[in-house]
Amino acid sequence: MSLKDKILELQQRREQVLQGGGTRALEKQAAMGKMTARERVITLLDKDTFHEYDLFVEHSARDFNMDKKILHGDGVITGTGKIGGKPICIYAQDFTVAGGSLGLMHARKITKIMDHAMKMRVPLIGINDSGGARVQEGVNSLAGYGEIFYRNTLASGVIPQISVILGPCAGGAVYSPALTDYVFVVNNISKMFITGPEVIKTVLGEEISMEDLGGAKVHSEITGNAHFYAESELECFEQIKTLISFIPWNNSRKAMAFPPEDPSPKLKIGDIAPSDPKMPYDVRDVIKNITDSSYFFEIQENWAANIVIGFGRLNGETVGFVANQPLVLAGVLDVDSSDKAARFIRYCDAFNIPIVTLVDLPGYLPGVDQEHAGVIRHGAKMLYAYSEATVPKITVILRKAYGGGYIAMNSRHLRADFVFAWPGAEIAVMGPEGAANIIFRKEIAAAENPEEMRQKKIEEYKTMFANPYVAAAKGYVDTVIAPEETRDFLIHAIEVSTDKNEVQPKKKHGIPPF
Ligand code: HXC
Repeated sequence: MSLKDKILELQQRREQVLQGGGTRALEKQAAMGKMTARERVITLLDKDTFHEYDLFVEHSARDFNMDKKILHGDGVITGTGKIGGKPICIYAQDFTVAGGSLGLMHARKITKIMDHAMKMRVPLIGINDSGGARVQEGVNSLAGYGEIFYRNTLASGVIPQISVILGPCAGGAVYSPALTDYVFVVNNISKMFITGPEVIKTVLGEEISMEDLGGAKVHSEITGNAHFYAESELECFEQIKTLISFIPWNNSRKAMAFPPEDPSPKLKIGDIAPSDPKMPYDVRDVIKNITDSSYFFEIQENWAANIVIGFGRLNGETVGFVANQPLVLAGVLDVDSSDKAARFIRYCDAFNIPIVTLVDLPGYLPGVDQEHAGVIRHGAKMLYAYSEATVPKITVILRKAYGGGYIAMNSRHLRADFVFAWPGAEIAVMGPEGAANIIFRKEIAAAENPEEMRQKKIEEYKTMFANPYVAAAKGYVDTVIAPEETRDFLIHAIEVSTDKNEVQPKKKHGIPPF
């Protein structure tokens, strides 16, 4: 065969692979409003940067007549490319080929690109669209999943791992995403569950749709499994590009710096938090008054909304924000908000991203539900995450900082590097009403007019303790600043922390309250 013929053969082989699961399956994919795996990869990556590998891999199954079946690429596309000029490794499951189900060679393609990402120290993006373990391949499929989970775990905290759910992902297909840093979902397209509606019907006799069981809204509002929600695949890809712009390629780098921009706020920062500590406001307005271009990239926006997490830039540098949200449940800490914040703090710490914490909370949420749901164990995650984090950690107390909430929100005692407080901050064991009722219980009861006495004692307590100066006098707060000074103090604190070097006790690893 001449070289020309051999090149022709290569082209023909490539064209065959590009047919995926065939015309009918491709039409079904399009009818569901889904791009094909290759379209997804090409749309997400910078133009003309995708280089595909292992497209000629063949499956190795022999049982159930599988030896007679051709599965192009074995149902997954793998390769390298760039996003915003940064190199990445990527795989995308092809649902048109055997439902994107995972057999031995499919798994090997994924683990090979994962190994590559680890060796090259670049982010790994997995686009998941798979019916889970390929039933015909039995234990080989399970082995394949185990190999992926193991690598996800080793890569955790070394390279960024991003999962995109773009189809019905069942069984093993959802545990790899759960081990990664960020999960993206798209309305009507993404489904995630361990046991599907049919199993539930058989075992429990209950009927439920795939959407109600594990649709995009379920995972971004109820379970917290998803970090980003989009209305379309295109919107989802834009979100991924934004995320990539905020994070470093690996744990030995810092995130790329951008040209500094001033905020362009719509509100005056000093006017955002009402002086009455019971009045709500949106803490994101405070963040947008501080960040470059007033931009805030929020994570898990619709789950545990009583805490706000996400990225912004200060003087061009990426910063992770953790902020109580007085708009939702008065910004209390509870089981889910503790989980949400603790994981984000650990992410920032693993990837050299300074953390700015904005405090305004009445404490932990009281109640039997929370106690029985394990608020002690989950709440402890916050204490653990802040205490072990060695990246620059800066706290601004905006208003209330009561009780355990004060300590948990990156207090000096958990080794905050800088603690600033606004003049309206109240730092105390509890709110003035509760405190007066306990300390002056006997005097109130014995008074001729107990209600009048209660109000008098509350005012006395407020004057003495509901301010930032008691904590500032003890050095727990470094200084009291006007709201307008916040951005300048934060930028300066981050600048002087550039070479921060805090050494923790040597150990194999800690035992966090998982
Ligand atoms: C082999 C599979 C498959 C699987 C889908 N297909 N899932 N083949 N193994 N797990 C095939 C179908 O047979 C079909 O092939 C094609 O993919 C498209 O599937 P459809 O059912 O036609 O698509 P749809 O109606 O959209 O339904 C999608 C689905 C459903 C909800 C994902 O296919 C489904 O329920 N699949 C099984 C899910 C499951 O139980 N997986 C195993 C989980 S156990 P043809 O040739 O007809 O086009 C697991 C263990 C690992 O993963 C645990 C590790 C911790």
